[in-house]
Amino acid sequence: MSQTIPTTPETRREPGTRKPPGPRSLSPLSSASALQRDPIRFALDIWHRYGDVVRFRFLFWPAYVLYHPDHVKRVLQENHRNYNKNFPNMKAARELFGNGLFTSDGESWLRQRRLMQPSFHHKRLTGFGRLMTETTAAMLERWQRTAPGDTPLDISVEMTRLTLRIAGLALFSLDLSNEADMVGRTFTTLGPLISKYATLPFPPLWVPTPRNRRLLAGLNTLNTVVYAIIEERRKQPVDTNTPDLLWMLLSARDEETGEGMSDQQLRDEVLTLLLAGHETTAAALAWTWYLLSQHPEVERRLHAELDTVLAGQLPTVEHLDALPYTRMVIQEAMRLYPPAFGFTRFATASDEIGGYPIPANSVMFLSAYCTHRHPAFWEEPEVFDPERFTPERSAGRPRFAYFPFGGGPRQCIGNAFAMMEAQLVLATVAQRYSLRLVPGHPVEPQVLLTMRPRSGLPMTLHPR
Ligand code: HEM
Repeated sequence: MSQTIPTTPETRREPGTRKPPGPRSLSPLSSASALQRDPIRFALDIWHRYGDVVRFRFLFWPAYVLYHPDHVKRVLQENHRNYNKNFPNMKAARELFGNGLFTSDGESWLRQRRLMQPSFHHKRLTGFGRLMTETTAAMLERWQRTAPGDTPLDISVEMTRLTLRIAGLALFSLDLSNEADMVGRTFTTLGPLISKYATLPFPPLWVPTPRNRRLLAGLNTLNTVVYAIIEERRKQPVDTNTPDLLWMLLSARDEETGEGMSDQQLRDEVLTLLLAGHETTAAALAWTWYLLSQHPEVERRLHAELDTVLAGQLPTVEHLDALPYTRMVIQEAMRLYPPAFGFTRFATASDEIGGYPIPANSVMFLSAYCTHRHPAFWEEPEVFDPERFTPERSAGRPRFAYFPFGGGPRQCIGNAFAMMEAQLVLATVAQRYSLRLVPGHPVEPQVLLTMRPRSGLPMTLHPR
């Protein structure tokens, strides 16, 4: 890949215009369909061709892609009030998940965020550490029974099963990996449909196509089960010994009004957390296993750290601070393969970014995948090198050169949960096994709701 990316927009300013450069085309559909077809290629191509601020036409709107950390910061943090989520793909997600934290905006988002934030505080999450390790250990026992010798397992699917199970247990103490479980089964079959609909909401849900009928039927099932769980919980006293997230959300009260959440709000948040809380972490873990399998020297260092610190014990939350390399391996995997490839915002009023005027009603695209490879901030950006994240080497790097969890007020609420989970899962599995990719299997990223390996990740298990 070419590393000659102009970093000063001025160098690429088109003479006589205050518009940033970008692909010009007669059809308003051409850039949108290129973006839809292969977002990674599109984002890289226009970056290499036009520089750090690129403008094109996205259907009816002017669209801007921003690659420089300072410009990402402007949208997500400095002037975040100007950039909301009122865009067609978010409206589609709202049809499915209602007004949950991920899809809502403005006052209703702020109220919910304030209500939910304390439940995601680092201290309250430590109670889930044991559940994470034990669920992973149970997966290893199943692997031992079902995948002996050279039988490959699709590690992308395995990580999704695992993180869905952990999310179900942490959220409402239910085992969603159970074949008989309605929520787990529906979520598993609905996942790909939801991804496709949220990226391309056409035909709209009210058109009775086979896909839409399946989506609506699945959502009905989820609604029925989730409302039943909420109703049941409302009748019970809070279990303060092992409070799951649903207990925490049920007992959350608005500081000013003293009000809690309605059943519908709880349903929206439960479905949002289930989806946002497992696909992303599963993707981060899948890419981590892939990268480790390609970099034996990194794997050796990881094993050395695990063997020294854990000495054969199962990892706990207390070990995490003593496992910095394990953490850096995950951070570096999310740099190269951020589960959230990119984000979209809508400018409500005009702004100025990188010296360019941004008109109101513009669509803003941010690509973590590209910014994480920005050669002005990352040396040899394509190289997998976990030690980039040592404090010494991180010093001086702008905050928004790396944003797998977003940033500003809408930063991922599950950030601490996800990092704790990824570290514990990686430590538990890597202590026992090396995972090797089936030789010759093609691995390339595909962007749906999250960025996953397009053709799965068949790997064999090698006991250590
Ligand atoms: C490696 C795992 C994860 C990654 C990479 C990730 C990434 C992100 C990103 C990039 C955003 C911001 C999107 C935007 O600004 O448009 C976000 C928001 C969110 N994430 Fe995560 N996430 C992960 C895990 C989780 C987990 C475990 C949960 C819940 C248990 C969760 C729940 C949410 C919610 C509710 C939001 C919306 C927050 C708001 O707008 O206030 N995520 N996530």
